[in-house]
Amino acid sequence: MRIAINEPSLGAEEIRAVSSVLRNGRLTSAQFHGGAYVQAFESAVASYVGAKYVIAMASGTAALQASLYIAGIKKGDHILVPSFTFIATANAISSLGAKPIFVDILQNYTIDPDDVAKKITKKTKAIIPVHLYGNVAPIRDIVKLAKEYDLQVIEDAAQSLGSTSRKKHTGTFSDMGCFSMYPSKVITAGEGGFVVTNNKKLHDQLLMFRNHGIGPRGPQTFGLNFRLPEISAALGTAQLKKLDKFLKMRRRNANLLTKLISDMGIILPIPPKDTNVNYSLYTVAVPDRDNILRKLYQKGIGAAAYYNMPVHKTPFFKNATRLPVTDWAALHVLSLPVHPHVSTRGIEYIAKILHEAVWEASETSWEVFAR
Ligand SMILES: Cc1ncc(COP(=O)(O)O)c(C=O)c1O
Repeated sequence: MRIAINEPSLGAEEIRAVSSVLRNGRLTSAQFHGGAYVQAFESAVASYVGAKYVIAMASGTAALQASLYIAGIKKGDHILVPSFTFIATANAISSLGAKPIFVDILQNYTIDPDDVAKKITKKTKAIIPVHLYGNVAPIRDIVKLAKEYDLQVIEDAAQSLGSTSRKKHTGTFSDMGCFSMYPSKVITAGEGGFVVTNNKKLHDQLLMFRNHGIGPRGPQTFGLNFRLPEISAALGTAQLKKLDKFLKMRRRNANLLTKLISDMGIILPIPPKDTNVNYSLYTVAVPDRDNILRKLYQKGIGAAAYYNMPVHKTPFFKNATRLPVTDWAALHVLSLPVHPHVSTRGIEYIAKILHEAVWEASETSWEVFAR
């Protein structure tokens, strides 16, 4: 049996949607509001997440860059961000000449508000909580802290489309929430992303920024080409229609997996009661992680360690900040496939192989794990 960690679910609806763009031949639009497919995509997402505005972008990274620019982030500004994230979050900060200040994480792998509070200085301008794996960051605490210190909050919701806390969608707690539609995400547009906001002024500024600073009456300010192509927008809209079905299957698989592996003494992803996570990644923590990963690969299971190198240890961002929970997580986490293509038999197989692999984990690793 071969099971990929994530794979897009594409069918006749997606082929029809993309074909209709190819047939009409309007592949993109440099109008202020974008093309017809982009606009349809934006209103569909807005009603899904319960936000007033959505601005489609070329990628999740572009969504973060545009949001940071519109938030007024400048060279030398400090941005508080978890090191335990995909490197794109930090790259977006650096692309504006700003400096990521790395913060530690909580047990659910999202930003630790206490560490944020400790690291706020005069240079701090914004906080980027990341809803990693689809887990919801302690966003209400972060927004409260930000108000107290007059800081901006931009949510990196790249992995969390469909995750909610008390029925409110991630990405809608702050001024701007940024999402990705890279093919490993819960829905895909090939490449693509979007920003959600309830603020009309930010909406207009983001629309201009993605289109070279051109407003309804011509060039107005600085901007770049961050437009989402019409083909991608059509694909994204077709995928969005299936999102609830996809999430139901992910949750069903995740719940079954949790039931089958809850006897192992490893750390499972158990979300709080008022939270609905999208299981973009089903992530456990295990002793002897790299050996277990190897055994899973050998048996055809595409498990993966997101992220075995936290951003503060990568060559470009290397610094000596001490982030003990981040370091522990980087050593122990392991994500398992629960995407819609994994069958009940597939989940049972993953549980069986994981049992065998953890059973064989070295005793010394268990000792380190327990600490
Ligand atoms: C946490 C996080 N932030 C940002 C991004 C960047 O998104 P994209 O790949 O669409 O540029 C991703 C996804 O790849 C991500 O997982």
